Amino acid sequence: AERTLVLVKPDGVRRGLVGEVLRRIEAKGYTLVALDLRTADDDLLGAHYAEHEGKPFYAPLVEFMGSGPVAAVVVEGHRAIEGFRSLAGTTDPTTAAPGTIRGDLGRDWGLAVTQNLVHGSDSTESAAREIGLWFPELAPAAS
Ligand code: GTP
Ligand code: MG
Repeated sequence: AERTLVLVKPDGVRRGLVGEVLRRIEAKGYTLVALDLRTADDDLLGAHYAEHEGKPFYAPLVEFMGSGPVAAVVVEGHRAIEGFRSLAGTTDPTTAAPGTIRGDLGRDWGLAVTQNLVHGSDSTESAAREIGLWFPELAPAAS
């Protein structure tokens, strides 16, 4: 089955929403295959967000993502990548659809859209790369 990397970002952990996010993933029918609460260092975050290096929101994003623990989760199931992106909702929590994690639980706190509760891999290539970064002990899964 396909695997995706989900992060409950530091805002989600601080607000006590880890359980709520995991509940939605499990209620949807996906399986949790790895779970770790960890404060990421700049090396890991730089690698994770390499595609955004040079963008205006990159430095604040990396600073925010290292500001406290994140819950890193490997989620498994057929079409789990697309499925979790659908559960998460669009990037901007102000306009993310109600019913989604960002739409139901997120808002703009005056800090642009950086604080949007969750991350989910956006392709099979991203998922393999990100799972390798966060959980090097997990071998790449067949999809
Ligand atoms: P992720 O699942 O976290 O990757 O979100 P995404 O795929 O919806 O967004 P994207 O990969 O384009 O951007 C990664 C993260 O950077 C977002 O989740 C936001 O936290 C942040 N981000 C993206 N675009 C902006 C922006 O225009 N301004 C700010 N401040 N942050 C942004
Ligand atoms: Mg993304």
